[in-house]
Amino acid sequence: MEKLEVMISENQLRERLKELGQNISSDYGEDSNLLLVSILKGSVVFLADLMRCIDLPLSIDFMVASSYGSGTESRGNVKIIKDLDVNISDYDILIVEDILDSGYTLSKIIEILKTRNPRSLRVCALLDKPDRRVTPVQLDYNGFVIEDKFIVGYGLDYDEKYRNLPYIGVLAR
Ligand code: IMP
Ligand code: MG
Repeated sequence: MEKLEVMISENQLRERLKELGQNISSDYGEDSNLLLVSILKGSVVFLADLMRCIDLPLSIDFMVASSYGSGTESRGNVKIIKDLDVNISDYDILIVEDILDSGYTLSKIIEILKTRNPRSLRVCALLDKPDRRVTPVQLDYNGFVIEDKFIVGYGLDYDEKYRNLPYIGVLAR
């Protein structure tokens, strides 16, 4: 596999996830009923690592939203392709997303989940590219704010490739 310019190293990811996990654990506490909602596919690696940094009982579930296809630009018409398996009314929902870019995907998913009246709803995104925002989204937890470069690795893809890179790299286009 070709080497890419490293934007965020494995060590940086590990350290930041530890902090996020500690913050989440102390914010929610033992009385919470935490359900991590992972948006496939990009957030699987982040979810798998983050959940092991959270020291609370929790459940996980998955949603699939229509996304970029094989290109690198999001479009406004986000659709839910796979919905959650569970009724969320008793859960404290923490959406776990790889990256907040235009905001289309997260704002749509937040809108949908809000209508189901969960106990609480918060959002965690590993990466935030504020320069790209079209629709405002409030993050409760964020790993890194990054500049407007197309990145891959740690779950993120270009044309379905590079998801298995253990670090976040910049794809020269
Ligand atoms: P948004 O709807 O534009 O906010 O896009 C969110 C989704 O686009 C993310 O969940 C990613 O799957 C994808 N995405 C956004 N920026 C990048 C990037 O730089 N590299 C890879 N995927 C990206
Ligand atoms: Mg994604």
